[in-house]
Amino acid sequence: MLAPELSQDSTKGDCIDQLIAAHKPGHGLARPFYTDPDIYERDLERVFRRHWHCVAHESVIPKPNDFEVFKMASEQVIVTRHADGTIHAILNVCRHRGAEVCTRDKGNARVFVCPYHAWSYGNDGSLKAARLMPKDFKREDHGLKALHVRVVEGLIFISFAENPLDFSEVENLLHATCGQYGWGQAKVAHRRSYPVDANWKLAVENYVECYHCGPAHPEYSQTHALEQPLHMIEALNAAMEERTCALGIEVGCGDHWQTSANGKETIHAFRYALYDGVKTGSQDGSPLSTLMGRFTDFDGGVTSIHLGGTSFLVCYPDHGMIYRFIPKGPETCEMELIWLVNGEAEEGRDYDLARLTWLWTVTTDEDKAIIEHTSRGVRSHYFVPGPIAPMEQNELRYINWYLDEISRAS
Ligand code: FES
Ligand code: FE
Repeated sequence: MLAPELSQDSTKGDCIDQLIAAHKPGHGLARPFYTDPDIYERDLERVFRRHWHCVAHESVIPKPNDFEVFKMASEQVIVTRHADGTIHAILNVCRHRGAEVCTRDKGNARVFVCPYHAWSYGNDGSLKAARLMPKDFKREDHGLKALHVRVVEGLIFISFAENPLDFSEVENLLHATCGQYGWGQAKVAHRRSYPVDANWKLAVENYVECYHCGPAHPEYSQTHALEQPLHMIEALNAAMEERTCALGIEVGCGDHWQTSANGKETIHAFRYALYDGVKTGSQDGSPLSTLMGRFTDFDGGVTSIHLGGTSFLVCYPDHGMIYRFIPKGPETCEMELIWLVNGEAEEGRDYDLARLTWLWTVTTDEDKAIIEHTSRGVRSHYFVPGPIAPMEQNELRYINWYLDEISRAS
């Protein structure tokens, strides 16, 4: 049977719910989930404006009054470091008639002056001045909309929600994982954005499963054991944990993957081994940079963290990766990769940028290609979602989580 066929203007409300109800358990999502503008709008409401997002590492705005603008679908958020060191996230939408207040992508500013009628805002969002307004105009009621912000182990998280999901389990697990790798003292070595001609879910689904790693990622598969079925890598994983333990470190793992129905943000952290003799995620397995955090040697392992639906983290003892998935439109998205190194490490002395970024650049180039291949395939009216393979359990979990999220208004 073909996937339920719905015209674009009939997919609102009930029709989306019917499509969710028609989902075949254990299978992939039907075509409209990857193409339909109304489902995309619902994704924005119930996934992106409900959940927390990791937007950056705080080392990108190190000095007082530094700022950077982050874009997600139609939203723009100015992330600023106030003179007192605190980090704020404010919407880049003037409270007068809605113009973009900040027109630069990044910089250093104590105030943002709207280019339209020159209302000016402090970098915490407070309205400082509004020309020629009546005497009873209240500046304090017209600050830029502030979003909720958390900074944990150097990572900046924002939430668009009025009442954000409880973040405590996420915080605890980030301390137990990224904290051991010293991410709070890390710095950004490199960032790269990949525009992807596909709905954001195709990109995330691809990220969370490694069934494709063998055929699609020959380079990654030479060093990382994740693509093998779990029973085949148990011995490698046990040896990794023994080495970690011998270093006097306990890196946390834990599965708090749950829907937001209970009011909590979700996080899953798991560890897996590199092949024997491989130190880190590099071309040949040899070290890439100065060790980080509590690590005094390599443990031959990787810690992988899935968080809140769009934020993914990868920790090696000598570098880290932040993977961000950003919706751009019903059939376009962006993947941003951020490479972290020890905050004391210097390019040229302690790491070579081309070597540092090689593996995940090659891997992400390959991922972009296969995600776009898939996007072109699922646009076919004859696409019928197939069964999810045992090695794609994380994808199945993600799909079930997603369907639950978009089925609930709150
Ligand atoms: Fe910003 Fe008028 S729209 S001052
Ligand atoms: Fe991949």
